[in-house]
Amino acid sequence: ARVDKSGYKHFMAKEIWEQPTVLANALSAYLDGNTIDLPESLDFANTERLTLVACGTAYFACLTAKYWFETLAGIPVETDIASEFRYREPPIPAGTTALFVSQSGETADTLAALRFCRDRADRILSVVNVAESSIARESDIALPIHAGIEIGVASTKAFTCQLNVLYLLALKAAVDRGRMTPEDLAQALDDLRGLPGLFNAGLDRDVTIAEAARAVAESRDVLFLGRGLMYPLAHEGALKLKEISYIHAEAYASGELKHGPIALIDKTVPVVVMAPRDALFDKTVSNMHEVMARGGKVLLFTDAAGAAEAGADVWRTVTLPEVAPALTPLLYALPAQLLAYHAAVAKGTDVDQPRNLAKSVTVE
Ligand code: G6P
Repeated sequence: ARVDKSGYKHFMAKEIWEQPTVLANALSAYLDGNTIDLPESLDFANTERLTLVACGTAYFACLTAKYWFETLAGIPVETDIASEFRYREPPIPAGTTALFVSQSGETADTLAALRFCRDRADRILSVVNVAESSIARESDIALPIHAGIEIGVASTKAFTCQLNVLYLLALKAAVDRGRMTPEDLAQALDDLRGLPGLFNAGLDRDVTIAEAARAVAESRDVLFLGRGLMYPLAHEGALKLKEISYIHAEAYASGELKHGPIALIDKTVPVVVMAPRDALFDKTVSNMHEVMARGGKVLLFTDAAGAAEAGADVWRTVTLPEVAPALTPLLYALPAQLLAYHAAVAKGTDVDQPRNLAKSVTVE
């Protein structure tokens, strides 16, 4: 199918803005009322361990999924970058399910990691956008993310659709292992059904984010901080920014700030803090104050309760709608994408075709 920009200036913009629709469709492809519609054979009752492997943005989807699988389903999870995984010759104990995430389904390192697991893991799952890809073909079960064709080199809707499928898998695993009641599952699915509406509300913050992005575009270095589920997303936010705006960006777990990166803070380094008002919020606020005490400019992504508690010295706040705690990585991906997009536009880079990068890397 031919895809055009449908009036948007860049494919990336189109792919960001279509997320409410794409996510709604991607979700309905996996739901049958309050049942998650997945292959019969995909049972997690006896899974002792999960190994999640991918590259780039897909790797940060894996890192997010680790939190979900461990917290909701109680399955120990190992994550790795595909190019590191097989050369380490990791032992794969019996009871291991290996799961590979790839938008293209053709990334050479991810495919090689899958082949390494072929005769070692109990079974091989993949989460892909291109259903007829090599990774899909070589998996025991391949689950499509239904994001539609993604053209922008910097992945946006594929990331949120990867998260959507990974979260459904974690819910399924929680049910299979008797850790989630039908009522809790129904609630979780209702929350998911509400996400497209929250994405639309999030898109209304575009003007505020664009304004912050134009200021961020002046900096040489940017730090991203997050805790818990926001930690993998901090990595994804930093990756997006460096891929398309060429600004050096690094992510840290908020709690690691004091173990190194705080030495970098001064008024020239914006610090993007991703922090919904959750159980860990107070700790993040104190990290933020450490940044501000050193002249650092904090750009805070939070919700109304978080904005009220954060105090007045925050440089800029983007207030997002309140969302179920488990779903924050999906919703908070949006301002991270918009920040990178507008910073790149401000710098005049080739947003859809950033220098030196390829959409799919089929060589090692
Ligand atoms: C390339 C792309 C990234 C992508 C990564 C993994 O580096 O530029 O956007 O995240 O490959 O690609 P995959 O198709 O395996 O998800």
